[in-house]
Amino acid sequence: MTVYLNGAYLPLEDARIPVLDRGFIFGDGVYEVIPVYSRRAFRLDEHLRRLQHSLDGIKLPNPHSVAEWADILTTLIARNAPEDQYLYLHITRGVAKRDHAFPNPPVPPTVFVLSNPLTTPPPELLQSGIRAITAADNRWLRCDIKAISLLPNVLLRQAAIDAGCAETVMIRDDAFLTEGAASNIFVVRDGVLLAPPKDNLMLPGITYDVVLELAASNGIAHQVRKVMKDEVFSADELLLTSSTKEVLAITELDGKPVGNGKPGAMFTRMHALYQNFKHEVMRK
Ligand code: PDD
Repeated sequence: MTVYLNGAYLPLEDARIPVLDRGFIFGDGVYEVIPVYSRRAFRLDEHLRRLQHSLDGIKLPNPHSVAEWADILTTLIARNAPEDQYLYLHITRGVAKRDHAFPNPPVPPTVFVLSNPLTTPPPELLQSGIRAITAADNRWLRCDIKAISLLPNVLLRQAAIDAGCAETVMIRDDAFLTEGAASNIFVVRDGVLLAPPKDNLMLPGITYDVVLELAASNGIAHQVRKVMKDEVFSADELLLTSSTKEVLAITELDGKPVGNGKPGAMFTRMHALYQNFKHEVMRK
């Protein structure tokens, strides 16, 4: 497995960073996850725009132009075997004496890119859906930044695993839906697809955008608005989206069936549209 680290392409085992890296010490950095289908990065421009938004959010200059990023990613894709991969991009504020304030003068950022084989959910999971729990969203108020400091998300995801589930659906202020620990969440009620608005309380998902575009272009009723807690608990269907999971149905929430406990009509339609879109856009 070949990775990219600070200008070099090298085997994963040989990639090393100093212990004073601010990513290691403070979680001071941002990341991206980009799916690659048939060796082509999915929605590259959108992912790089979101990366820029995250970098701006932590006041870290982008170390590369869009063309340079494209070159790094294309090279890395070519140097790894799988046709379908997911790229993990990780940028930290670099290596400096431990001090919370930014290094002054600034030091070079650490830039790391990893390629992993992309395994999308198997047919059994598409047919059964997944189990989820709910929990209070106890994260900070800049969840729109794809920050590497993911401790709340780690604890929230582990709470799901400990409960025999796959994801945690987060409720903010005991009132409204935000997202999953590592996914966006859609609610379906009376045939309408409901999506929380992209604001500072959730990550603006690339898959989320694709799902809303597919809803719009296929005449599927949808609304982007605050989704209240009660609407989540009485949903006909719940859908989860992310770059690596694509579109999945949540069929059990807090131990109770969602709708009839099986993936519903909206899931089936959206999953098919998503697969079709992926094949049209990426494989041809
Ligand atoms: N996570 N919300 C959160 C908190 C996430 O971590 C993710 C993705 C999403 C979905 O975004 P997208 O559709 O762009 O993947 C929403 C990635 C997959 C991860 O951390 O591995």
